[in-house]
Amino acid sequence: LRDIKVNESDFGVMSYDPAFMNTASCRSAVTYLDGENGVLEYRGYPIEQLAEHSTYLEVAYLLVHGELPNAKQLDEWTNKITTHTFVHENVKSFIQGFRYDAHPMGMLLASVGALSTFYPDANQIKDPEIRYLQIIRLIAKMPTLAAFAYRHNMGQPYVYPDNDLRYPGNFLSMLFKMSELKYEPDPRLERALDILFILHADHEQNCSTSAVRAVGSSQVDPYSAVAAGIAALYGPLHGGANEQVLRMLRRIERKENVPDFIAGVKEGKERLMGFGHRVYKNYDPRAKIIKKACDDVFEVTGVNPLLEIAMELEKIALEDEYFVKRKLYPNVDFYSGLIYEALHMPVGMFTVLFAIPRTSGWISQWLEMIDDKEQKIARPRQIYTGERNRDYIPLDKR
Ligand code: ACO
Repeated sequence: LRDIKVNESDFGVMSYDPAFMNTASCRSAVTYLDGENGVLEYRGYPIEQLAEHSTYLEVAYLLVHGELPNAKQLDEWTNKITTHTFVHENVKSFIQGFRYDAHPMGMLLASVGALSTFYPDANQIKDPEIRYLQIIRLIAKMPTLAAFAYRHNMGQPYVYPDNDLRYPGNFLSMLFKMSELKYEPDPRLERALDILFILHADHEQNCSTSAVRAVGSSQVDPYSAVAAGIAALYGPLHGGANEQVLRMLRRIERKENVPDFIAGVKEGKERLMGFGHRVYKNYDPRAKIIKKACDDVFEVTGVNPLLEIAMELEKIALEDEYFVKRKLYPNVDFYSGLIYEALHMPVGMFTVLFAIPRTSGWISQWLEMIDDKEQKIARPRQIYTGERNRDYIPLDKR
């Protein structure tokens, strides 16, 4: 760049792209996304096929290793994850230190960051064996931390993992078990949760994944890098949107109020949460699958009355010029909150339910970055717009 500078004060050639609208920040073989045509593939496998035939743990293996496991590999992987679901007892005291009404996402963020203090060897990121162990630990312990945060909010004793259950069933057990008796998850609800986990597992260079890569490029341990991803996901324009969708639907209250609400959105009073996406300029393929999963869940739980409002919003928005012109379609968050609510999750837990499966995506992208010889520490430049060469003015002269 220096060679083509006109003079010393010239920046040289530099692209200014503050929200990375046109900047590829890395090369990646993890997830393929075509927003114009609504295509999403993990390691080349269409999301629709994975949601129909696979399980979250198998998808996590695929993301991390690049290939689907054979039966033996899946068995070994599942066993490894299962034997790491417990967390150190002191983590309980750590979570107990939060206020009773602390947001579970804040608790998850802090407790995942704190895991680095329990596994200090985790900073040896160049050692493949140590690195692999942290990947297993992160995927295994995330539901346990999430469930502890939930139980803390509820003022209920923490429930330890039940390693006889499958990954989503064990999570439901840690959340909802109320007696000494074994918790038996409803298979239809467990499958719906597994599908939601599959759909949320990765989404190429979104805000939180970019945060994991940027922070990870400093070669910090993976717990700290993933904590950065959780922090990014916490924001209402990213993972926090599903929580906002539910609050919005409750505020709208009745189907009849939808036209007035839409008019307010078009006047710029607020956004229609769960609509629009930086990359998808078409129906988000994940939203289609979730909409279908809603039917299976509501068969067990009874229909959520907010579904009627959501469907009316979608119907009106998809025919309205404002949304059509801007290519605003429902995204993954539009219907997921309705399922979470039907599963008796409080809204504060919605983004946590996103963070649990996204961990496998974050960590796969992190792994790819660590192995990438071209990757240096992420360090963007700026276009400086401030003053220069000023002389300090003593306080009594200002
Ligand atoms: N409701 C109303 N108008 C919208 C919406 C919306 N949800 N989203 C975008 N627009 C409008 C903007 O006002 C803007 O209009 P203008 O051209 O007249 O100014 C135009 O569409 C483009 O919007 P941008 O903000 O430039 O689009 P961007 O790509 O930066 O934003 C985002 C994407 C953040 C997802 C946005 O659509 C949004 O805020 N949606 C609501 C929040 C949400 O659902 N987030 C979840 C995203 S999915 C995920 O993170 C898992």
